[in-house]
This record gives sequence, C-alpha cells and structure tokens, in this order.
Amino acid sequence: MNSAEIRQKFLDFFASKQHQVVPSAPIVVKDDPTLMFTNAGMNQFKDFFLGTKPAPYRRAVDTQKCLRVSGKHNDLEEVGYDTYHHTMFEMLGNWSFGDYFKKDALEWAWELLTEVYGLPKDRLYVSVFQGDEKDNLSKDQDAYDIWKTMISEDRILFGSKKDNFWEMGDSGPCGPCSEIHIDLRTEEEIAQVPGKDLVNNDHPQVVEIWNNVFMEFNRLADGSLVKLPAQHVDTGMGFERLCMAIQGKRSNYDTDVFQPLIQFVAQEAGVKYGDDEKTDIAIRVISDHIRAIAFAIADGQLPSNNKAGYVIRRILRRAVRYGFTFLDFKKPFLYKLTEVLADQLAHVFPELKQQLGFVQRVIEEEENAFLRTLDNGLQRLGALKDKLKENNNTIDGKTAFELYDTFGFPLDLTALIAREKGLKVDEAGFDVEMEQQKNRSRNASASEQSDWTILQPDASTEFIGYDCDTSESYIVRYRQVKTKSKSEYHIVLDKTPFYAESGGQIGDTGFLISDAEQIEVLDTKKENDLIIHITTKLPQNVEAAFRSEVDAARRNLIRKNHSATHLLHAALRKVLGEHVQQRGSLVSEKILRFDFSHFAKVEEAQLREVEQIVNERIRESIPLDEQRNVPIAQAKEMGATALFGEKYGEFVRVITFGRDHSVELCGGTHVLNTGNIGYFKIISESSVAAGVRRIEAITAGAAEEYTQQQLNELQAVREVLGTQSNVSGAVQKLQEENKALQKQLEQFELKQLSSLKDELVQKVQPLDGVNFLAEKVDVSTADYLKKLAFDMRQVVDNLVLVLAAEIDGKPQIAVMLSDNLVSNKKLNASQLVRELAKEIKGGGGGQPFYATAGGKETAGLQAVPTKALELIKNSLNA
Ligand code: SER
Repeated sequence: MNSAEIRQKFLDFFASKQHQVVPSAPIVVKDDPTLMFTNAGMNQFKDFFLGTKPAPYRRAVDTQKCLRVSGKHNDLEEVGYDTYHHTMFEMLGNWSFGDYFKKDALEWAWELLTEVYGLPKDRLYVSVFQGDEKDNLSKDQDAYDIWKTMISEDRILFGSKKDNFWEMGDSGPCGPCSEIHIDLRTEEEIAQVPGKDLVNNDHPQVVEIWNNVFMEFNRLADGSLVKLPAQHVDTGMGFERLCMAIQGKRSNYDTDVFQPLIQFVAQEAGVKYGDDEKTDIAIRVISDHIRAIAFAIADGQLPSNNKAGYVIRRILRRAVRYGFTFLDFKKPFLYKLTEVLADQLAHVFPELKQQLGFVQRVIEEEENAFLRTLDNGLQRLGALKDKLKENNNTIDGKTAFELYDTFGFPLDLTALIAREKGLKVDEAGFDVEMEQQKNRSRNASASEQSDWTILQPDASTEFIGYDCDTSESYIVRYRQVKTKSKSEYHIVLDKTPFYAESGGQIGDTGFLISDAEQIEVLDTKKENDLIIHITTKLPQNVEAAFRSEVDAARRNLIRKNHSATHLLHAALRKVLGEHVQQRGSLVSEKILRFDFSHFAKVEEAQLREVEQIVNERIRESIPLDEQRNVPIAQAKEMGATALFGEKYGEFVRVITFGRDHSVELCGGTHVLNTGNIGYFKIISESSVAAGVRRIEAITAGAAEEYTQQQLNELQAVREVLGTQSNVSGAVQKLQEENKALQKQLEQFELKQLSSLKDELVQKVQPLDGVNFLAEKVDVSTADYLKKLAFDMRQVVDNLVLVLAAEIDGKPQIAVMLSDNLVSNKKLNASQLVRELAKEIKGGGGGQPFYATAGGKETAGLQAVPTKALELIKNSLNA
C-alpha cells in the first residue's frame, strides 16, 4: 500500500462508521494564546471537549497537519538524528464528541490495524493508564478489560502519567490514554530482547503508532483537574510511522512519504543516501524541515523575528545550515524542494500547490538572507583571530552567544567552524549567556492568569453584534490576569454585541453598564470561541444584569474601513491580476492596511486606477448582501474568496458587494451600503517581505481631512509663489533660475579668486632663499582655498605659502610648498600645519607638499601668519 492508499483507508474506515470527514485545520493557530502551531489533531476541537461550543457532529475523522516545535510538545532537536520524529507530521484521528467511548474506540482501532491494514497481532503491544496518586486517579481497569478480549494479557502494559495521561498543554482538556505500539525488529533481534521491554524506551523499531485518549478532565491553571461535562474520544495515529510499519521499513524516511524528497536532495548534493551517516542526517533534516516550512508559509505564517514567525525562521536556518555544512550547498536550495512536495501532497493539502510560486519566493529570499548572514558571521569569526590568540585560542561565551543571537549561528555551527580553524569554544560560557537571555525574556513576559470563575457552566456566548450595538447581558465567567505592569479582567458574557479582534478587524471598545456602575471595556479578544471583554475593573455585583454598549461611532468607522478593504481587494485583483492573494490585514477605526502577494512595486498609475475603481463602487451605493450560515461548498460555488490559513467551519458567512465585484468569506462588520464609506484614499504602498506588498488607505472623514491637508499645503505654496495656476511650472522656472544664478555666482567667485591670487603674488617676500607668504584671506569654500594655493604654486617658484581663512564660521589653514623645497630643505607641510593648528585649537594633516587643518577657535587665525614666519625661519636655519 502506498501512503496515499493508507491515508484514504483510514478516512474510509471511519466514514463507514458514521464519522464526518473534516479537513485539516491550518497548521498555524490564530485564536489560542496557549498555542502557536497545531500540535495535535484535537486542537481544532478543543471547544467541543470543553463544552464551550456545541459540536456540529458527534463523530469526526481527518488527517491533521501538526507541528511539534515549541511549547509542551517539542521534538525539534531530535529531528534528523533519529528515524521517527518530525517537525511537521500528519496525525490521523477519529473523534467522538460525547458519543462513543472506550469500547468502540479500542475495538475499531484493533480492527483497522489488524484486519484492514493486516499488521501482525504478535508484533503489537498496548498500554493503559496505571493511575496516579497525586491526581487522585485510579488505574484504567475499563480499558484493560476491553483489551483483554482482543489481545493476550502479557501484551497489555501499564504506564505512568508521563506516557498514559495525555494533556494538550499546561492546562486544557486531558484524560487517560491507551497507546498501541509496534515491534518492527527482526526475529533474531526479538529472540534476544522481548519487545515488551522496549516499549516507550526510545527504540527506533519499537514505536508508538496510535494514541487513544479518553477525554474526561480539564486541567486548570492551578494544576487541579475538573470533570468535563461529557466524555469524549480523541485519537491520534502517526501517519508516517504507520506507513513505515505497513510498508515494512525500518525508518519513516524509507517510506514513500519521504523518499521523493530524500532522493531529490541527494541528487542535488551529488551524494547517495545511506552512504554516510553525516550526510544522511543532513538529508533527513532538510527533507523533514521543508515540509514544516512550506506548509507554515502556505498557511499564512511568514518567517520573521518574533513568535511563530521566528520558529519558522529557525527551522529554515537549521535546514540551510545542515545543507551548507554537510552537503556543500552554498546557494539557496530549499525552495527547489517545494515543487516535489507540492505534487506529492496536492490531493490532500492542495494549498501548497495553489501558492507554489509565492512560497518558493519567500523561501528563496530567506535562504539568500541567511546565507549572507552566515558569510558575515564567518567573516566576524575571521576578524576575531588576533583577539583569540590572546584568549588561548578560545571563542568566549559572549562572542559565541553574539554569533548565535545576531548572526543566527547555532552553537554547534560555531563549534564546527572553530574546530576547522583549530579553535575552541567556551560552551559553558555560552550556556550562561543563554540562560541570562531566557531569564530576561521570562521576566519581560511573566504573567499570572487565574482560572476562570464560572457563573454559568455550559453557557456559550452568543454574538449579536452583526445586528445591534447594545444588548442586555449577564456574565457567565471571568478571570484575572496580572503582569508586572498591569492587572486586568477577562469577562465573558452570555450575549454580546462586542466584536472580538479577528480576521484583521480590531476588537470593539465600549461599556458594561449596570444600575450601580459603569465598567469600561478596553478591548475585545477571542480565545478559541470565547469572546473576552477586557476591563481594568470587575463589577461589584458580577451577577447583575448589564447593558453592554459598543462605542458605536468607533465601530462605524471600523465598518467603513472593513468594507473598503473588500473593495480594495477586488480592485487589486482586477488591476494587477488574479495572483493577488490576501496575506494579512488590519482594519481599525483610523486606517486599513492590506498585505497581498504581488512581485513588483505597484506603479503609481495602477494605484490611481485601483483608487478610482474603489471610489466608483462607493458612488454606486451598492447595498450589503450578507448571508449567514451558507454551507461552505455553496459559498465556494458562489466564487467567494477564501483565505489560505483561515479555519472555516461547515457553515460560513458570505459578504457580497456586487455579485461580480466582491464576494468574500468574512466574519467582520460592514457598512449597509458602500455609499456609507464616503471616500477612499490610498496613502502608501510598500514592501513587507519577499513577494508581499502593503497598501495603507483611509476612508470617509479621515480621507477627506487628508486630502484637505494636501490642498492646504498646495495653497500655501501657491501663495508663496504668487500664482494660482501652473504651480509645478512656476517651481520648475524657479529651479532653473536658481541654477543659472548659481553658475553666475561661481564664475564671479572664480574671477575674484584670480585677482586675489594676483594680489597675493605681489605680496610674496624672499626669506632665507625661499619665497614666503603667510596671509589671512577671504574665501567662501575649502575648495576655493585649495584652488588658490595650487594656483599660487603654478606661478611662484620656491614657494612657502600659508593661508588662513574663516570658512562657514570655522577656522581653516592650508600650507603649500614647492616640490623642490620638500626634497631639499626638509620642509614638511603636514608637520607645519599641525604646529599651526594649535593656534586654532584644531588638527589636520595631508601630504608633504600640501596639508590642511581645521579648528575650533576662529580668533586664533590672526596669529597664524606671525607664527608661520617664525616656524619657517627656524626650520630653514636649522
Ligand atoms: N491528542 C492525542 C495525541 O496527540 C491523541 O490524538 O497524541
């Protein structure tokens, strides 16, 4: 069975057991502050388990793109060295939301593995939870008894909390679990050590393939467990490991999931996979990492310098670095792999193939940037050499950390390069620096969050903000959040008109008003599906009835900007082409910002055309066509623009402004008629990343004000120029006049300089066999001073010339000597000027025949001629 068949069989099997087949959620998580990336299939169903949102189906099945590179589940450092951990992997999962429980889950798992996939029963082991005293949990006798009917008891192992109690993070839904492990070793190996001893012991051929979690509890922030309202099943099977088992391979990388990538990398590098462990590791790292990088970007996460973006950047750098060091890839290479990957997975995850050009562009640009950084880092290491000699040929911890922190050099790369150069690295010192950095960031972000105080269990929030700005509400839960600098409250209501920040639109502000008091809502945010109102105060009576009131004026400005964003999106596609994809947006009451894929600067004329189209749509006064609860398939048929990396449910909201103009899937708030936007004005166009442009625009009053300001400025210019028409012509004429005057002035100055020269020549005096002149002169620039000196040299032999001048309010001195004096009389212009510069509190230098000095004390210039005479006399007589 190839991997595509294995995946399909899983989905088909559970579909035949009445499971709804659902698509993978994006790998990048948007509305969960506890998670950056999807790390398990159950993430997208968290609210169904917690009971904060009803599940639309009782059973579901899918394959989920997962990433375990940060937080509680982090496998990054293992990847490449072993044969069965990955950054991105697929998790096959089946779910029961308050429906079937342990018996069906375990029996179906067994049926699928042994009958459908035909895995040998005598190679399988299962584990069940042994209980935990601290959490006051007894052993999972139910699971044990169910397994007993299918598998011999010596293959059922008890496991501790670490292996058999699954938790998504430090808090959240959790429960005891039962794992299925497979022994893929040879008969001889098995005869020596029984498989049972190797379960959960990091053996590459005795691995866990499937985890069945029985979700029963919620772990609170204080560490305690509370029972969930219902019992659920969450299962996760490692797709790549399953393929290894079914295809009889000893490594995930030997399956057809990875082989196309591996062979491509090996060929590019001109090596053979399997020949050398060092190059093999590098090839595995690259073949693994490209999957995480490509899909994260396809799901909307660009590499960047913070948070999720930084995680992706680090993974990319890890891959580049292995290629650079072990496979001699000195030019970008990762981006080429995306084509192989996109083709391979086009039938399951089409998002990569659909955006291939864009994803390649981003990766190649990142690679280029990092290769340059590597180069700079290498030069920096080179420049350190002398310092290192004094330092016992050791790169100190601080420097190693700087290389890591600013140049992105992982410690092992520094160590490797150091070794090549016969140097050592102070690794302990590096660790100290690293620890300090961690402490710094920990202290900066430390926040304390208390658990929810729940007033109405099971109550979920109803959002009514599409239809009204106010409502009567009750608090269903609240909690306090404290950071070093502030303390705030999170309040959840049963019903709310407040829009929570999402889809680029900022959160609403407003008030919660009761008979007794008025509490300000500073912001509204989303956490999964909870709408959280952020306040600095908790109402005295949390059980009171409140009138919740959105700041309607602000909301109306936001509406205008959001609808204008849709019109802009449509106009951009019309003017620039269908390749324009939304890459991010911000809609506030002040401005709208729209990021989109496009590979060149948007020309001025194109911007004007876009602006014109949008304003035309505004003038057409197109009424809003809002459809809620449209089945996703139907919405797509309507041609609605969906965004990559956005999680859409079964039913979506479609916002239309003109059928053939703008149809988008959107959860935001909009104007009822485009005419309400009033006026649209683009104020900037710029680049944000490789292949991503940004347009900022304003609407309505802000746009009018902006335009008025521009006009005011223009009027001011007109008044200064004294003309009402053809302002640019008048400015151009001024510029031309100015140029001509400048030229005249220059000629005039040159003439003056020439007569000054003639005057000075007359003043030259013989002095001990040379022709000497020291004089304070009047010139306007340093260039003229220089010209004067050189011109004098042309006409006077044996010249010793000292000129002093005040130029732009500062004193300057020039010393000029004829060449023969430099060689014969041992005079030196540089030395002389330095001596003279003392008079003006300055310094200078130059060549032996011509040198200049600048200084601070203009008054000192008076003394220069006398001092010069003295100095020259002394030198000539010496
Ligand atoms: N949530 C469990 C896991 O990730 C099973 O899906 O292992």
